[in-house]
Amino acid sequence: MGYCARLKGLALDKFAKSMHNARMSHAQRVQILGDVCFVRAYAKINLTLEVTGRRADGYHELATVMQTVDLHDTLCLTAGGDGRVRVECTRAELSNEENLAAQAARLLRERFALSQGVLIELRKRIPVAAGLGGGSSDAAAVLLALRQWWRLPLSLPELQAMAATLGSDVPFFLTGGLAFCVGRGERVTPLGPLWPSPIRWLLLLKPAIGISTASVFQGLPVNDYTDGSHSRALVGALQERRLPQPEDFHNSLERSVLERYSEVARAKADLLQAGADLVRLSGSGPTLYAPFSDLSRANQAQEQLQALGYELYLAHAINPNGDDIDVL
Ligand code: C5P
Repeated sequence: MGYCARLKGLALDKFAKSMHNARMSHAQRVQILGDVCFVRAYAKINLTLEVTGRRADGYHELATVMQTVDLHDTLCLTAGGDGRVRVECTRAELSNEENLAAQAARLLRERFALSQGVLIELRKRIPVAAGLGGGSSDAAAVLLALRQWWRLPLSLPELQAMAATLGSDVPFFLTGGLAFCVGRGERVTPLGPLWPSPIRWLLLLKPAIGISTASVFQGLPVNDYTDGSHSRALVGALQERRLPQPEDFHNSLERSVLERYSEVARAKADLLQAGADLVRLSGSGPTLYAPFSDLSRANQAQEQLQALGYELYLAHAINPNGDDIDVL
């Protein structure tokens, strides 16, 4: 059944809370176990990403709807005796002090004139430079964990302001779930928790390239700018418990990324060929996501695409704050 056919089939009497897909019972994000602290950092997808203008500071004005998904990194923080902030990552190239997670810890230490060291062990699962916000989410997870662990008197707005200095997406990850974000992306309005059941499975495909967000934004023609109406329509549909129209899953960066990176264009065609009804770029890519209404079709597509050598993740929407998602 195609996306539109399913849209017609989406009746409110089908409204149900699916324990299987929406229970967030495992979602407690920060766990303190004596002198170590574990925290999860979830990935996101962009349901919309509209570039609405260019700013004097070189950034772009955005209207974007983001949702966290259950693909996550795990961080373990340990008090460090040597007074340094260090990162040890399962990906060696990320084991350095420039890592955004280390920057987040240093930012809190500076703000409160603290001198304790911390070792951040980072088990990386979210693909890097992939449009899934992994680095930003790691940084937000460190801010949340250390605020709790070090009992720092910081309100959410104060933490959001600090997060925005680390990166445009970092404030979103402090709350996660479903949110509408404007400005650089740092002004966040949480919307959820709600999610349409017909798109409960999300197949994420990561083409074997990394893409620099800055280079995609820099090369973006003004013709690809939009006015935020797709995001407003998508939010309106979700709030009225309707499945959004396919065209409202709009990403202003997708056209130029597909044109510039043939690997991404090929991957999109292969996802459609494998049975996806809708395929969109997340962030500045290269990761593409395709929603599915049932596990068997998603799984079939995943196996078919894995056989072609693609890296894939089967995910679903998650609300990291632990509330159940209201399934439309
Ligand atoms: O804020 P962040 O460091 O994540 O942004 C990475 C790069 O993406 C920026 O240096 C900028 O070139 C581009 N960007 C932008 N407009 C935004 C967000 C990011 O131009 N709203």
